[in-house]
This record gives sequence, structure tokens and C-alpha cells, in this order.
Amino acid sequence: MKDVWILDRNAESAAELTEALPRLMYETSVWTDADRLIAALDEKRPDVVVIEHCLSEGGAVDTLRAVKEFDRRLPVVVVAATTSSQGAIESMREGAYDYLPRGTLPSGLEDAVRRALSPDGGMIRTIGSPGPGDVAELGAIVGRTPEMVEIHKLIGQTAATDAAVLIQGESGTGKELIARAIHYNSDRRNRPFVAVNCGAMHPEALDAELFGGRRPGSSEWEPGRFEQANEGTIFLDEVDTASLPVQGRILSVLENGQFERPGARTRVKVNVRVVAATGRSLVAQMKEGTFRVDLFYRLKVVSIFIPPLRDRRDDIPYLAEYFLERAKSKLQKDVDGISQQVFDLLADYPWPGNVRELERSILRAVALNRTGVLVPEDFEIFREGAESWPDAAELSPEGLESAVSRSFRRLADRDEDRIDDAIVSEVERVLAEEAMRHAGGNQVRAARLLGISRNTLRKRLREG
Ligand SMILES: Nc1ncnc2c1ncn2[C@@H]1O[C@H](COP(=O)(O)OP(=O)(O)OP(=O)(O)O)[C@@H](O)[C@H]1O
Ligand SMILES: [Mg+2]
Repeated sequence: MKDVWILDRNAESAAELTEALPRLMYETSVWTDADRLIAALDEKRPDVVVIEHCLSEGGAVDTLRAVKEFDRRLPVVVVAATTSSQGAIESMREGAYDYLPRGTLPSGLEDAVRRALSPDGGMIRTIGSPGPGDVAELGAIVGRTPEMVEIHKLIGQTAATDAAVLIQGESGTGKELIARAIHYNSDRRNRPFVAVNCGAMHPEALDAELFGGRRPGSSEWEPGRFEQANEGTIFLDEVDTASLPVQGRILSVLENGQFERPGARTRVKVNVRVVAATGRSLVAQMKEGTFRVDLFYRLKVVSIFIPPLRDRRDDIPYLAEYFLERAKSKLQKDVDGISQQVFDLLADYPWPGNVRELERSILRAVALNRTGVLVPEDFEIFREGAESWPDAAELSPEGLESAVSRSFRRLADRDEDRIDDAIVSEVERVLAEEAMRHAGGNQVRAARLLGISRNTLRKRLREG
């Protein structure tokens, strides 16, 4: 029989954990005191340790670390009453075998324990622990759907390694947020995090931006972003837009930790962790020959796919509450909450702009709100009638004219001073969002539909 030690201060909760494990297969002992459990490891080794996360602030992670000091190969499963991204990240970074939301009991725990005991189990997920240092303030990564919990765990697992990571997800799904979380949970956290949006630059400018170059008329070498990121992490957003020569240099950094300066023979050595992101399928681009297959495999040592918000709707209410708190403090405005009607509408909305669109909608709603509770009228995306912009389909010249006049009067009444900018960018934004909906969230198609570049489209989706 396999020995499972369960650490839990609360008897009732411990009983629940015990009952999740079939009696015929496991011998369970319950510990209520972390120090005693650690001391007992001197004499006896269980096969698995289960730690209830809610011991105290950080208590579970400390205990986990202490167990791992005794025996790195001893699998530890952390059970969390309330899951938090930071709890999942830290547990996995410190070498937990698994991190389970309490809601997945009983089968979740039995599964995890069984997997941990399989021949290659306990070791697989173990990763080195980081050195001391301050963990920088992180933007929380909100999400409780199984998909998001998996992502939190992956962040923790990869944070302690130097492996390249490829993050894939539609616009606004949180790719940069996750890249930052990887960096700030890694040993490189006190070194630079350098983010480069490859898509925002002309291909040749990107080469110099990343790898350095000479200013026109000057003979002095200006180091690029890779050199700036030395010992830290570089985040290559929209890596799919990089030209083939730039891809070649990125590959060389990944393979040998060095690159050749553009237009020169000198080689530059760098120690940089690469995290890349793309909103497009690289598979299609590899078929077209515009993305190097060898670079793809080098980048995706760890691959994180963030599902679009419409595919993890259970996260919407939590995100909405989180953004409400942020908006309140940002705008210094008191709002008590979100009405049920709004929650229902938020749950059904397609969110072509994903989490960013939700964040922006809540911020605007808080700004507009007068009643103390967010109501559908506070949301432009749900508003109909007088104040709203007509649907693109109804955008006859007269409809547009009256919408513009109405908005003009409204803004003029409020004494706004940048009316032209406000209305034009609003029209552009509506067009961009409408095109995104029409194109099923595909930016390339939406941009083509509007006859604008993808970068312009993204800029317009972001504005507001
Ligand atoms: N799970 C989440 N929890 C909290 N905030 C989130 C989450 N996901 C995204 N956000 C917020 O949404 C906004 C967009 O996220 P981010 O910039 O990381 O997206 P992105 O995938 O890089 O988008 P793009 O492809 O357009 O660059 C940010 O303000 C980010 O903080
Ligand atoms: Mg981004």
C-alpha cells in the first residue's frame, strides 16, 4: 500500500481529502502541523504528500519547499481552496507535482496521486528552485477555468527554467501579461524584461532594433534590444512578422547564445531568455515558407495556448469584478457592483477583442455610470437607441450624419476639447470591431475587409 501524508489544519477538510483516496490502495495519515510533518521526514518517507493550500499565507509554499529540501523526488500535490494564479505559479515553480483547485475533488486528487506514483511520475514536473530576490509586483492573472489553471501551472513550471516559450492566442487574450509573469517569477526577475512588438516595425528597422546598428552618419555601434535584455528576458510579440533574416538571427541566439551583427562580421554573445508570441497560426506560415520550421521548434520548447475569452466564459464574471475594482481605483469613483442583467449580457457577448475589450468596456462603464451599479446602459456594446452608434449595416449616410451630429452635440455640451479626434477614432473603432466580428475574430481578414493594415486595425481595436 502506498503511503500518503495529508497536511491540513482543519479536520473536516482533511477528512474530505482522505475520503478522496480509495482505502484499499492508500494508507493515509493526517498531519495538522507542518513542522511535525517535516520533522517526521527524518525517519520515514511517504510516497506522496498532499498539502492543503489554505494553511496560511504562503504556508503551503514554505512547507512544500521544506519537503523538497528533504527529498526533491518526493511528489507533493497542493490542494487550494481558493485558486489564485500566484498560488499556482509559486507551487509549480517550487516543484509541486500538481496544483488542484478544491472544486476538482474527489476525482482530481485521486488522479493526481495516481499519476504522481506512476513510474516516471514524481520526477517529471520537478524543476529547480529559484534563488532569493524580490518578486516584482505582478498584474494578477485572473481565471478559474481549467484552461487558465493549467496556464498558471505552466507559468510556474517554466519560470524556473530558461526554456524558450511560445505563447499563442488571439489579440487581447493576455499574451504579454503571461510573458511578464514568466519573467517576474523566474531567476531573471531582477534583470531586464524587454518587450518588442515585431509587428509594429518595418522589417529592416526591426533587424536594427533587435540586433543593433549604426546611426546614419555615425560610426558608433548602438546596441539592440537583445543586448539590452542581457541576463533578462526578451518578449518578441508578433514574432510571425519578423523577416527571414531576422528569424535566422533569433534562431542563432537560441542555438548558440550569439548572433552576427547586421551588416558586420562581428559576433555578439548574449544570455537572454526568449519568450515569443503570435496571434496567428505559424503552421500556415511555415507552409507558405514565411516562417522557419527550425525556429518554430526552437521557440516552442514550451507552448502556451490562451483560449479566446468566448471559449472560457466562466472566467468572465471574475474578470469583470477584477476590472471593476481596478477601474474604481483608477477613476477614483465609487461603484457598488454589477447588475445581474449586465452579467448576463457579458456572458453572451462574443468578445472579439477578448480580455482587453472586457477591460475597456468596464472602464468606460464605470466612467459613465451614475447609478452606483453598472447597468446595460453604461456599456456601449449593449446600448441601443439614441446614444449608440448605428450598426454598420444601417450605416446609411443619413444614419451616420445623425449619429455624428448627436455625438457632436453631446461632446460639445460636455465642453470636450478634442471632438474631432474623439469622433473619428470612435468611428474607426466601431469599424474595426465590426470587421472583427464579421471576420470571426480573424485580424488578417478583418484588416483586408477594411482595406487597412493589420497594425492599424490592432491600433484601432486598442484605442478607446
Ligand atoms: N487573465 C487575465 N487577468 C487579468 N487581466 C488580463 C487577463 N488577460 C488579459 N488581461 C488584461 O487585458 C489586456 C490585454 O492583455 P495583453 O496585452 O497581455 O494581451 P495580448 O494577448 O498581448 O494582446 P495583443 O495580441 O493585442 O498584443 C491587458 O490590460 C491585460 O492586463
Ligand atoms: Mg500584446
